[in-house]
Amino acid sequence: MGTHDGRDFDHWRRDRIQEFEAFLDRAVPNSAPFASPMRYPLLSGGKRIRPLLCLASCDAIRIGRDVDLALPMAAAVELIHTYSLVHDDLPCMDDDDERRGRPTVHKAYTQATAVLVGDALLTHAFRILASHLPSAMAGEAIVKLADASGHLGMIGGQVLDMGLDGPVDSVERVTELHALKTGRLIRCACELGAMAAGDDGDLLRRLTRYGELVGMAFQLVDDILDADEDEGDRGPPSFVKLLGVEETARRAEDAVAEAKELVRDMPRPGPLLALAEFTVARKV
Ligand code: IPE
Ligand code: IPE
Ligand code: MG
Repeated sequence: MGTHDGRDFDHWRRDRIQEFEAFLDRAVPNSAPFASPMRYPLLSGGKRIRPLLCLASCDAIRIGRDVDLALPMAAAVELIHTYSLVHDDLPCMDDDDERRGRPTVHKAYTQATAVLVGDALLTHAFRILASHLPSAMAGEAIVKLADASGHLGMIGGQVLDMGLDGPVDSVERVTELHALKTGRLIRCACELGAMAAGDDGDLLRRLTRYGELVGMAFQLVDDILDADEDEGDRGPPSFVKLLGVEETARRAEDAVAEAKELVRDMPRPGPLLALAEFTVARKV
């Protein structure tokens, strides 16, 4: 799939999601203790953008078939993402009753269950990396994922989002917030894909930058999609509040165009080109 074709992408996406969800099903099997509440948010129809970016990054540049390495990496990233949503929805955080059209974990079960589901998913993500990758690669992947997830990355962004580190009232601060909260994990998905393909040079650097740009575009679009519910002084910091819808949309388009240029001449850029567009064209 060297050229960009919507139908090719639909097939690629469907096949990859199926393969990926079969991996998740084995990673947290029905027979595991606590399986039912852990599987509830994990297998509930997320868009799977991060795992798809990881698999597409590997596909774009791989020489052999490295999906055996990329799949556990994609799964570890998605477990972190899922845990972050379960905790983010708790009453002490965003206090949301629904996600993906279904009751949130603390509504379907209990608050204590939701805290423990998040804890278990976070822990299990690192076990998946440690147990499926060759040890040198596992060490490197674990450091990357920990940096992207913890206080240096996504949690650092949540700290800013919750207003725990002072007001976030300028474009610079909102950019920093989003680069951490959403951007770092999306970037990490791309970096891990490059690592699975065995690259640690120029292609890795380009995929890292591609991930940053796609992560930023994703968040700019998210702020447009959430503009109504985020409105008002008590709502979270957002690009739309500071820049308006038009400028926010323009910046998302620019970021996607720049991201696509970075990967266009890779051996198999099709899915990466399509995923970059998907992040701005999506409606949910
Ligand atoms: C939602 O992420 C939360 C943010 C990081 C803004 P996604 O839009 O990727 O969520 P799902 O997994 O597809 O539901
Ligand atoms: C979700 O963030 C949690 C993380 C990105 C860590 P948001 O609060 O912005 O996203 P939604 O609106 O709950 O999906
Ligand atoms: Mg939220």
